[in-house]
Amino acid sequence: MNLDDIRTRLHELQAQDLPVHGGRTLAYVYDSGLSEVDELGRAAVAAYAGSNGLDPTAFPSLLQMENDVVGMAADLLDAPASAVGTVTSGGTESVLLAVQSARDARGEITRPRMIIPSTAHAAFHKAAHYFGVEAVAIEVGDDYRADVAAMTAAIDADTVLVVASAPSYAHGVIDPVPELAAAAAAAGVRCHVDACIGGWVLPFAPRLGRDVTPWTFAVDGVTSISVDLHKYGYAPKGTSVLLHRDSALRKPQFFASAAWPGYTMLNATMQSTKSGGPLAGAWAVTRAIGADGYQRLAADVFAAVDAIVDGVASIGALSVVAEPDSTLIALATDATCDPFTICDEMAEAGWFVQPQMAFAGRPATIHLSVSAATLASVEEFLGALRAAVDRAVAHGPVVVDPDVVAFIEALDPAALTDADFDGLLAAAGLLGTSEDGALALPTRMAEVNALLDVAAPAMREALLVAFLDRLSRPAR
Ligand SMILES: Cc1ncc(COP(=O)(O)O)c(C=O)c1O
Repeated sequence: MNLDDIRTRLHELQAQDLPVHGGRTLAYVYDSGLSEVDELGRAAVAAYAGSNGLDPTAFPSLLQMENDVVGMAADLLDAPASAVGTVTSGGTESVLLAVQSARDARGEITRPRMIIPSTAHAAFHKAAHYFGVEAVAIEVGDDYRADVAAMTAAIDADTVLVVASAPSYAHGVIDPVPELAAAAAAAGVRCHVDACIGGWVLPFAPRLGRDVTPWTFAVDGVTSISVDLHKYGYAPKGTSVLLHRDSALRKPQFFASAAWPGYTMLNATMQSTKSGGPLAGAWAVTRAIGADGYQRLAADVFAAVDAIVDGVASIGALSVVAEPDSTLIALATDATCDPFTICDEMAEAGWFVQPQMAFAGRPATIHLSVSAATLASVEEFLGALRAAVDRAVAHGPVVVDPDVVAFIEALDPAALTDADFDGLLAAAGLLGTSEDGALALPTRMAEVNALLDVAAPAMREALLVAFLDRLSRPAR
């Protein structure tokens, strides 16, 4: 292909995706609405795309930018002078490294455990899976916040980490960090605050007169915090910061190997060779927006959140699951409609809102990650939501055939064969039945989501893994 054809094809391909600008995609992407800043960030990514963060002596500019970005994070998060940090590739990597560091700091423990609220991000389950740390998930209270008494009671001699979210992704509320950190400290255990999604916007909330549970390093006992730049830092994708209260706490995070004939490998993150692009993009964007700019963006996003919460109050079939502590909103429906149909109706109207399945006896919901750029069209959003709910009510709640429910409930995902999965994927409408087994994703997902919703979490995981396996096949 010649270069122009490739450019054209890239644009065509990208047109299939959700828009990353415009404030109409309320999950996955975060839009400051500052197009000049976005362009600057992208130019910085491009300029540093080939630089290698593997060796800070070979690319000292990357070290400088990392220290600048970590310094800004430390200021935002009330970190003491002793604090140190690392820029990682994203929230999951920051969480993985926090868990791995906590495990390796206590190498004498053969069956390490971490105590997490049931609402902690799935990244902690991934860390449990990768690092052999048992994730002891404690059911949250009726207010969707961590149950301090139950989490405290769960801490034992094998516990290496206590986790809190600021806020939780699914419900947008902050756990009682002061109490959890105190319980962890009393037991001599690390306490990680997962502020991946809230950490770059919540620091501005008290300055805007909002009441926020303390969750930063100002809270005694908090030993590490993760905060993503590619969320409310409004930076290009691929950066998060993991901060530790002091360098001794970070030590186990480093990996060095001289056990081979090549260069001594020395890494602070999971990656070894890593593009300098995301870090340069984050450096440029954080400098361009600055603390005052982030405060203005925080004012906008909180104004949008308040307007959405107020507007939802007048939509009969909808309610806010928990008064949002941050910029995330979970919406529930009454029995006249279902969240999945509303998500489909919103998608048809050009808004992406994210379905969240029923979990632990609590019903399915709709997730909104509100961006600063959403404020400009918040009335339009509420109009679209009201109309989507009206159509979903007229449609009635999506019903899964009771026989299919019984069939799925009787299945053991661990015992299913690939052929069984193909059958189920086809029944779920996730797999075409044509001879070549081509994937046929329906445009409306409510039926598929409702079916996944009735499946137990292990079955949901197995079905979606089978689906992803079929999706990712080489194009030849
Ligand atoms: C609270 C929380 N932690 C961790 C993550 C994982 O972040 P990432 O998707 O950047 O890996 C997220 C993502 O939304 C999050 O909300």
